[in-house]
Amino acid sequence: MVAPRADLDWPHLPFAYQKTDFNLRYTFRDGRWDAGVLTGDETLPIHIAATCLHYGQEAFEGLKVFESRQGEALVFRLDENARRMAGSCRKILMEPPPEALFIEAVERVVRANRRFIPPYGSGASLYVRPLVIGSGPRVGVAPADEYMLVVFVTPVGPYFKTGFKPMPLVVEEEVDRAAPLGVGDVKVGGNYAAGMRASYGAKQRGYSEVLYLDAKEKQYIDESGPANFYGISPEGQYVTPASGSILPSITNKCLITLAEQMGLRPERRPVHVEEIFTFTEAGCCGTAAVITPVASITWGDRKVTYGDGQTPGPHSTALYRRLTAIQAGDAPDEWGWVRRIPLD
Ligand code: PLP
Ligand code: COI
Repeated sequence: MVAPRADLDWPHLPFAYQKTDFNLRYTFRDGRWDAGVLTGDETLPIHIAATCLHYGQEAFEGLKVFESRQGEALVFRLDENARRMAGSCRKILMEPPPEALFIEAVERVVRANRRFIPPYGSGASLYVRPLVIGSGPRVGVAPADEYMLVVFVTPVGPYFKTGFKPMPLVVEEEVDRAAPLGVGDVKVGGNYAAGMRASYGAKQRGYSEVLYLDAKEKQYIDESGPANFYGISPEGQYVTPASGSILPSITNKCLITLAEQMGLRPERRPVHVEEIFTFTEAGCCGTAAVITPVASITWGDRKVTYGDGQTPGPHSTALYRRLTAIQAGDAPDEWGWVRRIPLD
C-alpha cells in the first residue's frame, strides 16, 4: 500500500530542512563503492580526523523533483548534476561517484520518500541534496582513502522568500568568494563558508543577497551568493558573466537555450559592473533560486532600479514561465532535460 502524501502546508514551504522518511549513504572503501543503505537516521557517525571536517574535502549538488499533472515524479537535469558532482570531486581529489551510481542514488531516495513530493501546481518541489565527503582519517593535508555519498531530500518552496518577486542586491567589494584559479567553479562547501559573512552582512543591511565581483580586477560581475546572474540589454541580449571563478549553473545553461529560442541573443562574456546601469532587467538563476528577478543593485553610493522595482520584467517572466512549465511537464521537453523517476 502506498502511504498517503505527507500533510504539509505545500504552498507556503520555506527553503529549509524538513525531516523525511529516508536518506541514503554509499561508502567508498578498499577501492569500491558499496551497495548503499537507506536509513531514517539523520546523523552520520564520522571519524574525528575525517578530511571533510578538517580540510574541507566536501562537495554537494542540488536538484529538484516536480510532480506532473499526471502524478509522475520528474527530475530536472539529473545527468548534468551527476557530471558536475564528479567534476567537483575530481577538483578536490575526492573519489567521484560514477554517474550511474549518482543517478541510481537520487532515484532511490526519491522513491523512498515519494510521499514528500509536493503536489502538482503547489509551487513547491522536492529538493535533492547529494553530498560527497572525505570520511577517512588524515592529519597531514592529503586526500582521504574513504568517501561517503549521502543523499537526502527535503520539500521546499522558493529560496528567496519573495519567490518570483524582484529582490534587492548589493555589489560586494570587501569580500571575495573565490579566486580566479581557486575552486569557485565547482560546488564545494568551502566556497559557501567564504561567502557567508558577505551574505549575512548584506541581509543585515536589508538586501537579499550580494553580487560578487571578480577577485583580481574588481571590475567584472561574477555571480550572486547562491545563483548565477544575468542582465537583459536594451538590444535584447541575455547577458551572463563568463568567469573561471563562478559555478557553471545548469539553470543558466537552460535559460541560455530558452532565451535563444525566445528571440533574445545570449552572450556569455565578461560583464563589466558598469553595465548594470544599462540593463533593462536583471535576474539571479539557479536550482534553488529558479529565476529571482532583481529589483535594484546598489554599488557603493550608486543604485540602479529595474522597472518599478516591484514587477518582474517581461523577459524574466517569460523565461520563468517557460522553465517552470518544462520542469512540471507542462511544456514540451525538446532537449531531454526532464527524466521520469519510476515510483514503483
Ligand atoms: N552559483 C552558485 C554559487 C550556486 O550555489 C548555485 C546553485 O547550485 C548556482 C550558481 C546555480 O547552479 P544550478 O543552476 O546548477 O543550480
Ligand atoms: C542550489 O541552487 O541548489 C544550491 O545549491 C544553492 C544553495 C546555496 C542553496
